[in-house]
Amino acid sequence: MVLLKSIASLFLASIASASPLQLVARQNASSPCAAVAASVATQTAVAVPTVPAQLAYDCITSVPFNQSAALALVDGIVPYVKWQSTTAYLKDPPEEYGEKIQDAVDIWGELEKIRAKVVDGAYENEFEFGFELYLFSQTTHDGHFVFVPDVIGTVFNWARKTPLVSVSSDGKELPKPFVYTDVLAESFKNASFTPSAIVSINGQDASEYLENWSQYGSLQDRDALYNNVFYELASVSLGGSGAGMGTFSGSGRGRWVYPGAETTLEFENGTTVTYSNYARVLIPFNGITDGESLYKLWFTGNQPTATEAEPAPSNSTTPTPSSTPSATSIPAPGYPPPVLREEHNLIGGYYLDDEYSDVAVLAVPSFVSLDSAEIPFQQIGENFLAAARKAGKTKLVIDVSANGGGTILQGYDLYKQLFPNGIGHAAADTFRAFEATDLIGEKFSAVSEGLPRKLVDESDNETLFELEYEVVSSTLNYQTDVDVNENNFPSWDAKFGPVERHGDNYTNLFRWNLSDVLTPWNSGGIYIHGYGNLTNFTQPFKAEDIVVVTDGYCASTCTIFSELMRKRGGVKYVSLGGRSKAGATQAIGGVKGTNNYPWSYIQFLAQYTATTLAASPEEAAYYNTTELGDYWSNVVFDRAAIGSSINVNFRDGIADGDERQTPLQFVYEESDCRILYTKEMTYDVTAIWKAVADSAWGGKSHCVAGELGGYGKRQVKRERSIQDKILARRIQQWRRGLSIEDYPLDVFTDLRTNRLSGNAIMYP
Ligand SMILES: *[C@@H]1O[C@H](CO)[C@@H](O)[C@H](O)[C@H]1NC(C)=O
Ligand SMILES: *[C@@H]1O[C@H](CO)[C@@H](O)[C@H](O)[C@H]1NC(C)=O
Ligand SMILES: *[C@@H]1O[C@H](CO)[C@@H](O)[C@H](O)[C@H]1NC(C)=O
Ligand SMILES: *[C@@H]1O[C@H](CO)[C@@H](O)[C@H](O)[C@H]1NC(C)=O
Ligand SMILES: *[C@@H]1O[C@H](CO)[C@@H](O)[C@H](O)[C@H]1NC(C)=O
Ligand SMILES: *[C@@H]1O[C@H](CO)[C@@H](O)[C@H](O)[C@H]1NC(C)=O
Ligand SMILES: *[C@@H]1O[C@H](CO)[C@@H](O)[C@H](O)[C@H]1NC(C)=O
Ligand SMILES: *[C@@H]1O[C@H](CO)[C@@H](O)[C@H](O)[C@H]1NC(C)=O
Ligand SMILES: *[C@@H]1O[C@H](CO)[C@@H](O)[C@H](O)[C@H]1NC(C)=O
Ligand SMILES: *[C@@H]1O[C@H](CO)[C@@H](O)[C@H](O)[C@H]1NC(C)=O
Ligand SMILES: *[C@@H]1O[C@H](CO)[C@@H](O)[C@H](O)[C@H]1NC(C)=O
Ligand SMILES: *[C@@H]1O[C@H](CO)[C@@H](O)[C@H](O)[C@H]1NC(C)=O
Repeated sequence: MVLLKSIASLFLASIASASPLQLVARQNASSPCAAVAASVATQTAVAVPTVPAQLAYDCITSVPFNQSAALALVDGIVPYVKWQSTTAYLKDPPEEYGEKIQDAVDIWGELEKIRAKVVDGAYENEFEFGFELYLFSQTTHDGHFVFVPDVIGTVFNWARKTPLVSVSSDGKELPKPFVYTDVLAESFKNASFTPSAIVSINGQDASEYLENWSQYGSLQDRDALYNNVFYELASVSLGGSGAGMGTFSGSGRGRWVYPGAETTLEFENGTTVTYSNYARVLIPFNGITDGESLYKLWFTGNQPTATEAEPAPSNSTTPTPSSTPSATSIPAPGYPPPVLREEHNLIGGYYLDDEYSDVAVLAVPSFVSLDSAEIPFQQIGENFLAAARKAGKTKLVIDVSANGGGTILQGYDLYKQLFPNGIGHAAADTFRAFEATDLIGEKFSAVSEGLPRKLVDESDNETLFELEYEVVSSTLNYQTDVDVNENNFPSWDAKFGPVERHGDNYTNLFRWNLSDVLTPWNSGGIYIHGYGNLTNFTQPFKAEDIVVVTDGYCASTCTIFSELMRKRGGVKYVSLGGRSKAGATQAIGGVKGTNNYPWSYIQFLAQYTATTLAASPEEAAYYNTTELGDYWSNVVFDRAAIGSSINVNFRDGIADGDERQTPLQFVYEESDCRILYTKEMTYDVTAIWKAVADSAWGGKSHCVAGELGGYGKRQVKRERSIQDKILARRIQQWRRGLSIEDYPLDVFTDLRTNRLSGNAIMYP
């Protein structure tokens, strides 16, 4: 018998009393899905067919609700939610979080409510159920905590035809929303009209409407969420692996929220325009005649053409073939010619021209490993910083806009490239201490004690390689990490605790051992600057010669990097944009959890412990009687949207010196300076970088709140080198050559073809 722990038993015990299988079909379901199928059949020339949003909505809401399947799904989620580190804090957040960031959310209570509605048969159709289940994760505003049911993400993604931007007329006035193509037309002198701001959307005050819509995003900070509504060069430069053209037009998390049949925009000049919204159709509609057949083919496990819809991963070194632009040709519109740039635009180095010729810019829109990018990522950072020094650059702007994180140790490494002698931590880690983490940790630790801690070759001894890679290098082996004082833990128990805090149990605080010999296995192949044999580096820029700018979309590894830069490096941060409200904003608006775990990895950990690592059949049988016996079902994986991520926030980051030990994302921290977007910044990213440089060192502040003062004025070089002049000419040529066609209006988030990896990443 499976030993049921408190919460699980609450859920599982009532299965028996659930009413019998009950299918609720609301309407004559066949026609809308048949109409979608007919439309798709005519769109043979396009990679991703589209249909009117209303038709897609009528189709997807005609999928009947299957009560027993819904119950199995809701109950299947329970074992995974236990790994979410912040349930206690979400339910009862610090007062300031409630005031300035988000409302409290009782995760377990919400799941219970959904379950009760399933049992009562209160859902009209599968979509209504699926959307509530999606919101169950989304409303936590923890970008690491996400489950997207099949009915929400497998078949359709919603979209609007008009990406917007929110800009200030002069950098001081509060921003107003505009249609992006209007701004482009005006800026490239191709408008026969003067673009007018949007005053209302679907009859509601525009800012109000957009703030409400922004709340469907993944971030916790409301100003960062607001920015994510709009077209942004940094996220566009990531192509289908980023948050695209913003949530309003259906990129990022906007793709999963039905925007209604139409969107009506009313402009300041009195003009009103109504557009139909649309949906991208992500699966073949062969054999689908109605909601029932859609359900049977796609929502019961073995999707017919899962491989067709989800191309098999290619070898990691070869670019992924896809319908979206290939790896080497992801456009980065509005970015000047780079000095160095990673092939997916994950990191790039730039110089500015003319009176900014002393400024170097490192743009880092991602710490993600896409096609094993860790090594080139590290090299580009290192080579660019060296080149910038050599070229006589004295100031550095780092732009982490659109950065949803990626590989944890890449964040540590970039900080250590900038501060080779800096302290290697600004926060410590912890995770929930409960039965499953205890059992796995105990086993992993015991197995590791019998093995050397070293890198081994797969070809030498495959068994040993697997154990080293999966077990010895894991954080569930106490020897992998160090305690807050950077001493080794003597035992699993010493690491595990548990420590009771805020009504929940956590492990003792621990840190990465950045000198660990197994670092390359936790970092995608790199060692960390300042450790091991990477020790002979000099700091390339003084802290006061560095400023970091963000759009608030900085999550996960980006927040680890930022915590180090701010708290240890003493570097100032600029926040861009934000709601149409005066006052300061946060620079770091995404989840500050320090490690996400995919649910599939959690299942692997439980099953691996109970099978491969179990010393005997008796021990394996014993594990089945513990919480580890709850991870055999595949229902959550069968019912997740194709190409979506399913994750929990596994580790919390706790700031060094925080006696209350509050997970970092529950702490509100204003930026040093807030700068508003102007029209120019939406099509020429150098306008952002120049405003930052002016505010920090130019004696001309663009800050509408806070300030970067105290650094004094830049000594602008009078004598410019030949290289400076060549560069200035290239940049001027680039600027002159810009045209409306450079700005793609078809970028959308597509994780079916863009395979991101990373251990602290908030998926778009
Ligand atoms: C209902 O579906 C059936 C079967 O496809 C179809 O023949 C009929 O015309 C539909 N009725 C309506 C009102 O759409
Ligand atoms: C409803 O789901 C159950 C699994 O829980 C499945 O056996 C059954 O076939 C489904 N019903 C329909 C009509 O698809
Ligand atoms: C510029 O405007 C003209 C007239 O409105 C239009 O025909 C043309 O396509 C526009 N060019 C671009 C690049 O948008
Ligand atoms: C009013 O502004 C909108 C949005 O910029 C524009 O599309 C429209 O042409 C303008 N109308 C007039 C009469 O200028
Ligand atoms: C947006 O407003 C609508 C209507 O008031 C409300 O039902 C919905 O929950 C709001 N959405 C969010 C994310 O706040
Ligand atoms: C992957 O690499 C293997 C061995 O080099 C090769 O046989 C295989 O064809 C490659 N697959 C792809 C999809 O490139
Ligand atoms: C491979 O490693 C395993 C685990 O340490 C060990 O038991 C086994 O003897 C090794 N095999 C060889 C051929 O060395
Ligand atoms: C924390 O762990 C202790 C010891 O295992 C247990 O007695 C206690 O109930 C736990 N507290 C919570 C809030 O889970
Ligand atoms: C860190 O890792 C190294 C190499 O794996 C190990 O020798 C050392 O004991 C670990 N702990 C500390 C505190 O350095
Ligand atoms: C550091 O050591 C690693 C592993 O031995 C090696 O691959 C790398 O080239 C060395 N780097 C330097 C800068 O010596
Ligand atoms: C360290 O760097 C300095 C200056 O770049 C160089 O002179 C020295 O040889 C280096 N030392 C080692 C051990 O590599
Ligand atoms: C544990 O339970 C799973 C799922 O019921 C089963 O497949 C497996 O054989 C069990 N293992 C043992 C050792 O009893």
